[in-house]
Amino acid sequence: MTRQRADDGTAVELRGITKRFPGTLANDAVDLTVRRGEIHALMGENGAGKSTLMSVLYGMERPDAGTIRVEGREAVFASPGAAMAAGLGMVHQSFKLFDSLTVAENVVFAAEPRRFGLVDRAAARRRVRELAEEHGLAVDPEARVGDLPVGLRQRVEILKLLHRGARTLILDEPTAVLTPAEADALFAVLKSLAAQGRSVILVTHKLREVLEGSDRVTVLRDGRVVARLITAETSADEIAAAMTGRAVELDRIHAPGTPGEVVLDVAGLGTDAVHAVDLTVRAGEIVGIAGVAGNGQSELVEALAGLRPVTAGRVALAGQDVTHASAAERRTRGLAYVPEDRHAVGTAPAASVADNLAMGHHRTSLSTRGMLPPAAVRAHARRLVERFGVKASTPEVPASALSGGNLQKLLIGRELAHEAPLLLVEQPTRGVDIGAIQNIHDQLIAYRDAGHAVLLVSAELSEIRGLADRVLVMYEGRVTASYTKQEADERTLGLAMAGGALTDPAPAEAVD
Ligand SMILES: Nc1ncnc2c1ncn2[C@@H]1O[C@H](COP(=O)(O)OP(=O)(O)OP(=O)(O)O)[C@@H](O)[C@H]1O
Ligand SMILES: [Mg+2]
Repeated sequence: MTRQRADDGTAVELRGITKRFPGTLANDAVDLTVRRGEIHALMGENGAGKSTLMSVLYGMERPDAGTIRVEGREAVFASPGAAMAAGLGMVHQSFKLFDSLTVAENVVFAAEPRRFGLVDRAAARRRVRELAEEHGLAVDPEARVGDLPVGLRQRVEILKLLHRGARTLILDEPTAVLTPAEADALFAVLKSLAAQGRSVILVTHKLREVLEGSDRVTVLRDGRVVARLITAETSADEIAAAMTGRAVELDRIHAPGTPGEVVLDVAGLGTDAVHAVDLTVRAGEIVGIAGVAGNGQSELVEALAGLRPVTAGRVALAGQDVTHASAAERRTRGLAYVPEDRHAVGTAPAASVADNLAMGHHRTSLSTRGMLPPAAVRAHARRLVERFGVKASTPEVPASALSGGNLQKLLIGRELAHEAPLLLVEQPTRGVDIGAIQNIHDQLIAYRDAGHAVLLVSAELSEIRGLADRVLVMYEGRVTASYTKQEADERTLGLAMAGGALTDPAPAEAVD
């Protein structure tokens, strides 16, 4: 087939893309040009329309207006299959792999090399090895995908797209679930793909990644393009201001709180993945847990929430033993919980925003004899939607219509509204835009200052340093170090997270 236009170095060109949902103009006449060989960052606040634009490009949503050109050829794709055939490939935030199949089987799935009409397994393995070597995406072709950590699963997704000949890769918040080391490895891969003349469209909220890893930036606000920037000529402040329309104070370190009574008292706690953890959290205090993902932080929080069996030790909440209490009992005794997994554990996607916000409130001031009057549910929803800036056309829409970051705001808002003495919160700002991060941080500090205890687990060191009054580091299932706010600088924490701290969990004087 001959090209209809001369190759002018443009990989993807969107012109005047408009997409409406009931009550929402998600994309409003968006123009976006992605060049061959560039990493193009797409940024914007939660609900700005980034994922929608990518869904339109990738044939998952039909635009109401506008044109799409891929490598010079005009096409509005009717399905992701058609987009793939034109050289596009998308890595979704929740991976679409088969856990029970091997890496090689996943990579070639539906595009298998065949010999005499049968799938040629040896050829599939060879193909994966070749691709992996060519692109620096090392992964064992015979490993079962279900056994791999997220960073490697993401590699499998990328290999799959490359196997199908993708020349433009779309990644929607690819680093949200990665450790810093995995994210660095991903960027090395993306840069080498770009150097080979492929293009990458990267949707992310992380300014550091954009500044270090992209060539150009397009910023959306309320569905419209508000800035087109060249990365080398811009700054974090300029991007943040374009996104929010105001100046944002990045990475603020909040003043310490005034700790009171012990609310959470954990002694010698053990589970399958946690060993001999001692910790206390006082009223009016935020204790942060830092650590590289997979060192027992999630398991510790699950055990404290009553979702994972405790095999050793003791947990007391507000002076009462809850070591073996159910999750529901802990809630009545004063625990609120923001889990890491906002989809499977945290919210009900088919239920409305208002109902999601009311969940767990059957025993609070919202209820009348255990029932939730609809008017009270609606008023409660309106208050929280306003306070946390949840962007929803009405509180009656299903939670599944919310953008990723808005679902996260909903979950935090609901749990803070319980005013429980203890809040367990995991990755509070994952997938949340910078303006909303500032809001959530302010709300957590206000919650602390109102005399509540907060145990915060976060993969973002700047978040831990900004919020926590004390920082514990977990390594291989144990608390291996403990620092005051002043001691917890980035280098000290980084070293401890890599296993370099003393095994004595109270080296307060040892660190200067
Ligand atoms: N299926 C849908 N039905 C109704 N509204 C939708 C649907 N999908 C998206 N929206 C709305 O369109 C707007 C844009 O959403 P989109 O998911 O594109 O935002 P985003 O920029 O990706 O945000 P985030 O950073 O939070 O992921 C939001 O207001 C969202 O609520
Ligand atoms: Mg999105």
